[in-house]
Amino acid sequence: MSAPPVLAANSVSMVFGGLTALSNVSLRLQEGQILGLIGPNGAGKTTFFNCLTGLYSPTTGNVQLRGKVLPTDPAAVTVAGVARTFQNIRLFPSMTSLENVLVGRHARMKQGPLASLFHGPAYQRGERDARDRALELLEFVGLGKAHDELARNLPYGDQRRLEIARALATDPKVLLLDEPTAGMNPQETEATRQLIFAIRETGVAVVVIEHDTKFIFSLCDHVSVLVQGQLLVEGTPEVVRADPRVIEAYLGKPPDEVEAEVRQYAEEVAHGGPEATQVIQPVRDQDGHEGGKR
Ligand SMILES: Nc1ncnc2c1ncn2[C@@H]1O[C@H](COP(=O)(O)OP(=O)(O)OP(=O)(O)O)[C@@H](O)[C@H]1O
Ligand SMILES: [Mg+2]
Repeated sequence: MSAPPVLAANSVSMVFGGLTALSNVSLRLQEGQILGLIGPNGAGKTTFFNCLTGLYSPTTGNVQLRGKVLPTDPAAVTVAGVARTFQNIRLFPSMTSLENVLVGRHARMKQGPLASLFHGPAYQRGERDARDRALELLEFVGLGKAHDELARNLPYGDQRRLEIARALATDPKVLLLDEPTAGMNPQETEATRQLIFAIRETGVAVVVIEHDTKFIFSLCDHVSVLVQGQLLVEGTPEVVRADPRVIEAYLGKPPDEVEAEVRQYAEEVAHGGPEATQVIQPVRDQDGHEGGKR
């Protein structure tokens, strides 16, 4: 009998009009676990995150954090301890890195609007602590020197890291990352893998959506595969990447080839950096926004 999960999704279904985007999807995330969620475009991965974070109210099923059913209200879910990043980066572009992280911090602070009107000592102390914590988190994600930069001026990979810092500022128990390495070069991808390990070390359980399967198989303890809104297979990376259904529906190559790729990746990492990691570049419009399918 395994320990109770920190996050549990129980038979979550999501129907949009005539389209069933998710059908009875369940998930168990254990404390200290890094869980990968993979599947083809349109499989329902982001929709599932939207259900886990209260952005969507599932048509059936529910989501529990440490045994308590979560409300379908994103702000309340954040306060309860589930934080996320978005597939299409959502930062405040005209605010600095520090200010963006402070927005996450304030989602967690108890002081109401009246406190900020009177600016008493408790308010000042709270603000100072929030700033210190935000700076610490920027340092943690590797953006310590960029605290004064406007978010819109940061390179793309740094914007993704800033979103992670902002999510961590809410003191989550669970962090959900929707394609955290999309658009990153191999070095940034590897830095992100190490960052996710470091986040786990701080006691936060993580769910990661990614298309880069080498990244997922070398990062996660457990992998769930969604295809057409249904959970096709779940298990350890070894089990999942050898499953004929996953190979047919998603990987499109034989297990020994996938195995060799993952081994090669591990060796490259051990020898100072993966040169050959395939990074799927998101399609972006002129303003740098992602769009379209890969
Ligand atoms: N708000 C919505 N209204 C209607 N249909 C939606 C909505 N959100 C998602 N869908 C549909 O649900 C399905 C799953 O989409 P979703 O974005 O969750 O896929 P995904 O697995 O994240 O894909 P990708 O890898 O491309 O990001 C798609 O057919 C999508 O068009
Ligand atoms: Mg998605």
